[in-house]
Amino acid sequence: MDRLKGKTALLVGAGSIGPGWGNGKATAVTFAREGAQVFCVDRNLAAAEETVKIITGEGGNAAAFAADVSKAAEVEAMVAACRKAFGRIDVLHNNVGIAEMGSVVEVTEAEWDRVFAVNLKSAYLAMKHVIPVMIGQGGGSIINISSIASIRHVGISYVSYGTSKAAMNQMTRTTAVEFAPKHVRVNAILPGLMKTPMVEHSAGLAQSYAKGDIEAMWRARDAQVPMGHMGEAWDVANAALFLASDESRYITGIELVVDGGLTCRA
Ligand SMILES: NC(=O)c1ccc[n+]([C@@H]2O[C@H](COP(=O)([O-])OP(=O)(O)OC[C@H]3O[C@@H](n4cnc5c(N)ncnc54)[C@H](O)[C@@H]3O)[C@@H](O)[C@H]2O)c1
Repeated sequence: MDRLKGKTALLVGAGSIGPGWGNGKATAVTFAREGAQVFCVDRNLAAAEETVKIITGEGGNAAAFAADVSKAAEVEAMVAACRKAFGRIDVLHNNVGIAEMGSVVEVTEAEWDRVFAVNLKSAYLAMKHVIPVMIGQGGGSIINISSIASIRHVGISYVSYGTSKAAMNQMTRTTAVEFAPKHVRVNAILPGLMKTPMVEHSAGLAQSYAKGDIEAMWRARDAQVPMGHMGEAWDVANAALFLASDESRYITGIELVVDGGLTCRA
C-alpha cells in the first residue's frame, strides 16, 4: 500500500474507448489506490472525467484535462495544467494508441501518418515537455505503452501499428540512456493480447480475427496464449505500478513483456 505516496502521475490516455476497463483507466485507478495524485488526460474529456469520478469516489485525488496529444501546443498546455494543478510530475504514463489494419500494400498514407502521430509523436512530445520538469525536480519515471506487435507478427496484419510501437521501443531505450544521469528512468511495457474495450470496439480487429464475430475473436485470442487466456487491463496496470514506483529505481530502458508467455512460443 502507498507505493506511490506523494507522487503526481500524468496519465495520457486515461479514459477508455468503451464501457469497462481499458489499460489506461485501470492504470490511473491503480496509481491512485497506491497514493498518487493522477492528472487524467484524454482527447475525450467525458472519458477522462469518468476515470476521475472513480478515483475521487474511492477517496483519491485526480483531475481531468482534454488534449489531443498528437498536437504540440496541446501537449504543452497539458504539462502546464498538470503543474498548475498538482505542482510537480513524478510519473509520465504514455498510454494512447490506435490500430489501423493492413499490410504496407493496403494501408493508406493518411492512415499511416495518423497511426504514427497518435502512437509515436504523442510520446515524443510528452517526454520533450515533461523531462525538463523531472530534471528540475531531481528525477522521475516514464512508462511508454508499446505492444508485443513491436517485436512479433501476432497473426493479424497491421504493419503501421507494430512499426510505430517498434520505434517507440527504440525511443524508450535511447531516452533512457540519455537521461539516466539525471535520474529520469524510461521504460516500455509490451502488452500481449489483452481483453479490453479497445479490442472489442475495433471493427478492424474483430474482422481480422473472426469476420466481425466478437465472441469468436475472444476464443481465438485465448487459444493463442500459453496460459490459455487473454490478459486484463489490471495486468498492465500492475506492471506499470512497479515501473512507476521506487521499487524499480535501478531499472531503465527495458521492455517489460506482459503476455502470458505468448512471445516465448515459436
Ligand atoms: N488491448 C490490447 O490488447 C493491447 C495490446 C497491446 C498494446 N495495447 C496498447 O494499450 C494502449 C491502449 O490501451 P487502452 O486499453 O487504455 O485503450 P483505450 O483506447 O480504451 O484508451 C485509450 C484512450 O486514449 C485516448 N486517445 C486516443 N488518441 C488520443 C489522442 N490523440 N490524444 C489524447 N487521447 C487519445 C482515447 O480517447 C482513449 O480514451 C495503446 O497504446 C495500445 O496500443 C493494447
